[in-house]
Amino acid sequence: MRTSHPGVPSCGRGSLSAPGERMKADPAMATAPANVTSAAAVSDDAEAALRLEGLSVTFAAEEGLLPAVQDLHLALPAAAITCLVGESGCGKSLTARAILRLMPPQARLGGRILYRGEDLLSLSEARMRALRGRHLAMIFQEPMTALNPVLRVGDQAAEALRLHAGLSAAQAREEVIRLFGEVGIPAAAERYAEYPHQLSGGMRQRVMIAAALSCRPDILLADEPTTALDATLQGQILHLIREQAQARGMAVLLITHDLGVVARVAAHVGIMYAGYLVEYGPTAEVFAQPLHPYTRGLMESSPARAPLGAARLPAIPGSVPPLGQRGAGCPFAPRCGQVLPVCRQSLPDEREENGRRVRCWLHAAS
Ligand SMILES: Nc1ncnc2c1ncn2[C@@H]1O[C@H](COP(=O)(O)OP(=O)(O)OP(=O)(O)O)[C@@H](O)[C@H]1O
Ligand code: SF4
Ligand SMILES: [Mg+2]
Repeated sequence: MRTSHPGVPSCGRGSLSAPGERMKADPAMATAPANVTSAAAVSDDAEAALRLEGLSVTFAAEEGLLPAVQDLHLALPAAAITCLVGESGCGKSLTARAILRLMPPQARLGGRILYRGEDLLSLSEARMRALRGRHLAMIFQEPMTALNPVLRVGDQAAEALRLHAGLSAAQAREEVIRLFGEVGIPAAAERYAEYPHQLSGGMRQRVMIAAALSCRPDILLADEPTTALDATLQGQILHLIREQAQARGMAVLLITHDLGVVARVAAHVGIMYAGYLVEYGPTAEVFAQPLHPYTRGLMESSPARAPLGAARLPAIPGSVPPLGQRGAGCPFAPRCGQVLPVCRQSLPDEREENGRRVRCWLHAAS
């Protein structure tokens, strides 16, 4: 267990199960998703298909090194969906892209990313190319920038099948048309020959999803994959991803802003704030009893929790500090209603107990 900062007095509220802080359960949010078993059944270490150990992403800038993701520990269990949530700029996409090592040149990666006994951060670029698309696949947040504008979408979706699965052009085309149908692309054979600009945002997103699933990867990184889709299609795609995860043992890291989506599909959820994972645990437990003030703020401001007819939702005051303006203490301190003097001086360590983890002085070890 990682515990509190040495030499800093405990604030005397050190239990990770804080019954006094228990939230009123929202029936829609607190219902355990179908695939939630227990923290022990999908524990952090034993069955992880991929493990991030102390991941950091730092940008080299004129003003010095700017940390964007820090000391992030996360295990992705096989056959399950783990969600990452947090406001814009918290480091969710960078975390996913770091796993594929698809980073801008000024970015530096630290820590370890363990997959099948290898640290992805120490592999050659050639070995990473062999893993990307085949074993590690990603649905990118921006389908327009991820798709090549001068290539037919079908050929792009077929690329991994030809490269990694050794399919002929005709076989790959047939499989892609089947996948297009599965992700809800109507007239799939005609769409195959179209270019990205001829498709709507939602249709491009579906092409990305089909391409990512084509080689049946072990690890799927899905960065807001259903944001551009209507509610019905969103449900279908999430169902498809969960079905693939369970049928093939695929581990999914799903990034979303939608806590309703998290409640429906995620076995585990991690909450990110300003580059740190500030809370993590089994979804049903986190939703029933959020420990970190930021998690509570996110839940209170979620439309999924709003009572019918509510005129306004409570909002967390302020905004996520940009890189370079994150001080020494807890980065949430300027926005936190429970801030303590120690919070502004030093960063709390992450504390872990019974599959729940939290980084907050309110839960530091006594
Ligand atoms: N190439 C880059 N150079 C410098 N800073 C960057 C770069 N890419 C991302 N950042 C910064 O890193 C932080 C985290 O970015 P990231 O894209 O991971 O956020 P996010 O949590 O995915 O947000 P959103 O919900 O808006 O997608 C942000 O402050 C962003 O401005
Ligand atoms: S400011 Fe203090 S109490 Fe608030 S989230 Fe940070 S560590 Fe916890
Ligand atoms: Mg993002």
